[in-house]
Amino acid sequence: MSVADEVKARLDIVDVIAGYASLQKAGRNFKALCPFHNERTPSFVVFPETQTWRCFGACGEGGDVFSFVMKAEGWDFVETLRELAQRAGVELQPYSPEQAERQAENERLFGLLHEAAHFFFEVLHSDEAHVAQDYVNRRGLDRQTVETFVLGYAPNDWQQALHHLLMLGYTQDEIVEAGVAARNDAGRVYDRFRHRLMIPIRDSRGRTIGFGARALDPEERAKYLNSPQGPLFDKSRILFGLDTARRAIRESETAVIVEGYMDVMQAHQAGFLNVVAQMGTALTETQLRQLDRYASRLVLALDPDVAGINATMRGLNVARQTLDDDQSVTFDARGMMRYTGMLDMDIRVATLPDGQDPDDLIREDPDAWGRLIERAIPVANYVIQQGTAHLSPDASYHEREAAARLLLPILTATESDLQRNGNIQTLARQVRIDERTLIQWTQRRQAAQTRALPSMRDQRRLAGRTAQVAPPAVGGPPGQSDLREAFCLRLLLEQPKRLFAANRKFRELRADDIVLDQVLAPLCAQDFSRPDFQAIFRAIEESLYQDDLDPLDYLHDHLQPELVSVIDDLQITVLEAFRQELPGVLATELESILRDQARVNTLRQPDTELFIQDALALRQSRLERESHELYFLQQDASDLTDQRYHVTVRANALARKVINKALQQMKSFARNS
Ligand code: UTP
Ligand code: MN
Repeated sequence: MSVADEVKARLDIVDVIAGYASLQKAGRNFKALCPFHNERTPSFVVFPETQTWRCFGACGEGGDVFSFVMKAEGWDFVETLRELAQRAGVELQPYSPEQAERQAENERLFGLLHEAAHFFFEVLHSDEAHVAQDYVNRRGLDRQTVETFVLGYAPNDWQQALHHLLMLGYTQDEIVEAGVAARNDAGRVYDRFRHRLMIPIRDSRGRTIGFGARALDPEERAKYLNSPQGPLFDKSRILFGLDTARRAIRESETAVIVEGYMDVMQAHQAGFLNVVAQMGTALTETQLRQLDRYASRLVLALDPDVAGINATMRGLNVARQTLDDDQSVTFDARGMMRYTGMLDMDIRVATLPDGQDPDDLIREDPDAWGRLIERAIPVANYVIQQGTAHLSPDASYHEREAAARLLLPILTATESDLQRNGNIQTLARQVRIDERTLIQWTQRRQAAQTRALPSMRDQRRLAGRTAQVAPPAVGGPPGQSDLREAFCLRLLLEQPKRLFAANRKFRELRADDIVLDQVLAPLCAQDFSRPDFQAIFRAIEESLYQDDLDPLDYLHDHLQPELVSVIDDLQITVLEAFRQELPGVLATELESILRDQARVNTLRQPDTELFIQDALALRQSRLERESHELYFLQQDASDLTDQRYHVTVRANALARKVINKALQQMKSFARNS
């Protein structure tokens, strides 16, 4: 038994998660509002029997006790293992000698930095610190703030901090490694920070890991001198103020990001506790991920000058990428669950008045700061504003197209369909280019991005893994859905207009029944499970929604080479898959259909019928997949708040019944004619 298994055996996942979410018994399982995203009705479920958890809402994620704690605390596996092992009373295997040594060294560095911070803090209250004291007063920082942030003064001397720390038993090497002292070429060790206001920088657990040091002498070249990168201090991972802001961020679900130390301290002093600062660099993914754990909304409050705007746009790019990644992990499997209240991280931008820092603004008028944050505009609007500001009213189509093409990937990358459409609408108005044209550009781009296509084998492995999570057996051999999808695409590529025939069928089956509206909506990319197939399907849709060319000519002209090669493989895929997985008879039958190349481009009714059947079958398997996901919720659905699951489950079941019946009818009709 591995240590991790032993830990799992001793801990009950329910106890552990109860420390993060308020769990309610629902049948054999427990439900709660998902601790990882903002929601009003619980879609987070803990399964005591399997000792697993799963969010059936926006996250769509799940796992064991380790993955939960890792996500909740933002720890890596090892950190989590240590913590949980301690809790479970499991003795961890001793570290390797090097690990144990490194660990002990780090502990000493934490101790050293803690001592250093308190040394500077003491000195700030001594007589030699009157310049620093005046400065603190002039910047309007009160006693409470000085204490909360443990502000200090590094005396105008080369040895004092060094001597103090040596006296406490730290070695020169340690003091240098912690960044409090530096060593010159001659090997001489001296205090790094002199005559500066010392601002301890702490990690999210409140441990001092470095310093930001503000020059007090106006002649000093570097306004801020920061600790060097080191074993504990990594600028790109730290958000200044997060340790004191964390709680307020969690409670307000909003994190406000500013640029400077002073801005954070001033904000906290004025009672705006959810404010943190990036450390003079662009926001990094790590920083965003940290915030994402506590906040559903981010407000970027950055300088209005050009550099500030660039920094904001830089920050935004990272924001988009991060959320993209998140989505690519969690988006697909959610299917129908999406409309149970999906909420993306809401990123907004507050533009400060010209020439003012948050620091200035808050000191002048704290209420104005509150209003500014309140009125922050969604990032999409900000991006559109910034990206089209240079366009004059009589800008050429070419200029407007260029602006739009730059903005589209940012605007369409992450948000819900609704928001994406809204963004495209706003952009369309702003650049005066037809919305549909913008959508086409976007789709083409997205198709081009499906380059790293997972192999069929990877797909199956993934499918197998998903099947482990859901207890009911998934119908059909693995890979069969790939096959049907490939077959469907073949038929559609022969004659794209067949899509209309299938969609007419869906409409007929919906029969104006509002319950079936969503579940029997027209065939769409989500009905395909492979991303490359989805991209091809989108291209086919695109070819049907333009008037310039015949759809097939359009596809010929517009398909990216990567997709063309996927299509070339389709026929082989279909054949191979059939050979491997289905009885010989069927394979021969299919082969004869496919061999007949003369049929390409001819609209033959039987094939269109076949396509309709396949389209229905595709939807059927998608509904089945989704019903497996709904299984647990349905099983435990007991109270009224579970109403929406009942509705979804009912719609799902009804749709499958309707499709089944239609398929049977079509097949018996085909046999009899
Ligand atoms: P600012 O120049 O806006 O500093 O840089 P500030 O916070 O307004 O400082 P005051 O108000 O003049 O005292 C914003 C942030 O960029 C980093 C610091 O983190 C600073 O808070 N910075 C700036 C440096 O690291 N080094 C520098 O020399 C300047
Ligand atoms: Mn400032």
